[in-house]
Amino acid sequence: MNQVTEPYTFIARLLHWLVAALILFNGLLALTDEWWPEHYLRTVIDFHKSVGISVLLLVLLRILWRLTHTPPPLPQHLQSWELRLAAIGHVLLYVLILSVPFSGWLHDSAWKDASTHPMTLFGLVSWPRIGFILHLDPPTKEYLHHLFGTVHTALNYILYAVLLIHIIAVYKHERLDNVSVLSRMGFK
Ligand code: HEM
Repeated sequence: MNQVTEPYTFIARLLHWLVAALILFNGLLALTDEWWPEHYLRTVIDFHKSVGISVLLLVLLRILWRLTHTPPPLPQHLQSWELRLAAIGHVLLYVLILSVPFSGWLHDSAWKDASTHPMTLFGLVSWPRIGFILHLDPPTKEYLHHLFGTVHTALNYILYAVLLIHIIAVYKHERLDNVSVLSRMGFK
């Protein structure tokens, strides 16, 4: 039987799984955009932007929650290097889950057709572009659109790599150390 440690608050657990699921879904949606029929593509990309902005707002909420609620302590048996690595990994994950949607928003704000294609969240509420980018001259916007697109893609791949390490670390604690860190984030 695994040792079970104190869980995170319900809100922290909910935000953790919601953000994780939406990020994976949105990444898959964008990476498979070539598989969609031509006439659906604009709708798929608009949906990708709406999910992405929702993630941005949920991550801000999650960070606010994390800053105002002390998480339960990590299991006692962990070595100091493991605690340090876990802390670095978690900060890195927060930076990435914030910068992935933010770079998408920057990329979209520099799109040449942004002013004639206003953004709405799921077709319901209008959402602004980043104003100072929207008003730059066309060649600068073109350059930034390409640059932010490259950054958006690169940050996604870095996020997937860090996420993989995060999952391997959880597996190590569960299977090799026999301590259930997963139960801290679970709903059982
Ligand atoms: C959960 C957050 C997000 C994730 C995981 C994500 C993931 C991705 C991925 C994996 C790609 C494909 C990159 C490539 O194939 O090179 C992409 C493309 C793109 N993303 Fe995001 N993104 C997110 C948020 C956003 C946001 C908030 C916006 C804009 C408001 C946005 C706008 C775009 C655009 C315009 C593209 C290019 C789509 C195309 O033209 O095919 N993304 N995103």
